Amino acid sequence: MKEHELKILVSREEIAKAINSLAKKIDSDYLGKKILLVGVLKGAAFFLVDLARSISLPLEIDFVEVSSYGNKAESSGKIKLIKDIRKDLSDYHVLIVEDILDSGLTLQYLIDFFKQKKPLSVKSVVLFYKMKNNDCKRPNADYFGLKIPDYFVVGYGLDYAEKYRNLKDLYVVSFV
Ligand code: XMP
Ligand code: MG
Repeated sequence: MKEHELKILVSREEIAKAINSLAKKIDSDYLGKKILLVGVLKGAAFFLVDLARSISLPLEIDFVEVSSYGNKAESSGKIKLIKDIRKDLSDYHVLIVEDILDSGLTLQYLIDFFKQKKPLSVKSVVLFYKMKNNDCKRPNADYFGLKIPDYFVVGYGLDYAEKYRNLKDLYVVSFV
């Protein structure tokens, strides 16, 4: 692991506030609908739990796992599904729960993947949205929490070589 420092970018209070407002929107948009939150392991597990507890509507949860980054701080560009879900989705509204939107490849892959399973609808909720120069080419999350600058970040589920997921705030990693 390269020598690095962590600097706080988003506090736990700001994260909690963003999640509460996402939950409110979801509560008003999904009234009367059967919701399945699908978290993307491992990073989004923390977000999914906090979001699920802030939503008042009844819901179910499940997880998929994909790999794209390995232990490096840069995308390999290749996405592989490691863990699928087994449920019949024909009467569910699927909401993909992702920690962060970077290139958007992971989200696009998962939207296409879940559409093939023919649920009633597929939408996505992303907590951190990295601002990029080529923004227009990315898939748009239906719901997103906080815009952040294009830095490699850790904490609140996000890792650097599997470390730091348990930090309560979001930090920028700077290599020294
Ligand atoms: P893409 O490029 O597919 O990336 O939108 C989404 C996935 O890549 C991971 N990712 C990060 N992980 N710090 C991390 O720890 C980051 O700054 C970061 N940016 C992207 C993340 O797992 C997400 O699912
Ligand atoms: Mg992830």
